[in-house]
Amino acid sequence: MLSRMRLLKNNYVVTFIITQSCFLLLYFEGEIIHTLTTENLKTIDSLEIKSLNMAWRASMITKEDLIFRQVVTLHDGARVLLRPIIPSDRQAMLDLFLPIPFEERQYMRHDINDPNVVGAWVDHPDFEKVFPLVAVVGDRIVGNATLHMHQGPARHRAEVRIFLAKDFRRRGLGTRQLQALIDQARRRNLYLLEVQVVSPHAEHIKAMQHVGFKTMCTFEDYFMKPDGDLVDVTYMTLRLRAPEQEF
Ligand SMILES: CC(C)(COP(=O)(O)OP(=O)(O)OC[C@H]1O[C@@H](n2cnc3c(N)ncnc32)[C@H](O)[C@@H]1OP(=O)(O)O)[C@@H](O)C(=O)NCCC(=O)NCCS
Repeated sequence: MLSRMRLLKNNYVVTFIITQSCFLLLYFEGEIIHTLTTENLKTIDSLEIKSLNMAWRASMITKEDLIFRQVVTLHDGARVLLRPIIPSDRQAMLDLFLPIPFEERQYMRHDINDPNVVGAWVDHPDFEKVFPLVAVVGDRIVGNATLHMHQGPARHRAEVRIFLAKDFRRRGLGTRQLQALIDQARRRNLYLLEVQVVSPHAEHIKAMQHVGFKTMCTFEDYFMKPDGDLVDVTYMTLRLRAPEQEF
């Protein structure tokens, strides 16, 4: 059996092909952007079409955003897929964030212990504001890196945030995921990337330096932990293009 469905929306043609082996290939302008097996086939209608609609809703989304897929090989040979988030990632995102111990959670800006907070990132994405790139191994999300776009006089810069599952740290994934996010920022013609690292996290600062970020300054007592203790925050930037490149 080979059946095809076509969906035309906003001048984009998406083709679903169900093959004999019951693999479903989701094509977008001639390129495969997703594959589903029989196990998750039944979810195709709700999830994949919702995923595409979600993407189309965001006016800045381009074909490149939708089809971005990159497989990276870690130091130990493990292969990890990098791709934008899709609605079927909800549980995998909860599984990434919910087990975080308090020791790490206390440094996070959001209450990632609340499933509604993490769920909303998946259910109501706005790629125009936040571009989320997840790292996937099998059914598991092992890393989440996001590019937070600013507006108005800050529209030339964006903030980077990253979080990896504990068992995927120190294996080169952070570097590869950050590089992929930096490439995305270059594609958007951004000038400057910034990151705020709570200063006790020397390894996070090193990882940022590894991909080219430089420390600009330290904000004293800038972050208040749940217990009221204050910690410094290191502000780092990465310049992507010089203003003179404009002329
Ligand atoms: C910070 C983080 C993104 C780094 O990603 P990673 O995949 O572990 O980093 P990489 O393996 O790509 O390492 C890149 C470089 O960072 C430095 N680095 C990373 N982890 C380090 C650690 N634990 N100790 C010392 N240096 C470290 C090293 O210089 C390393 O290069 P090297 O391996 O060639 O020496 C990741 O560890 C993470 O998500 N940590 C939890 C989140 C976090 O710390 N958040 C802080 C809250 S603000």
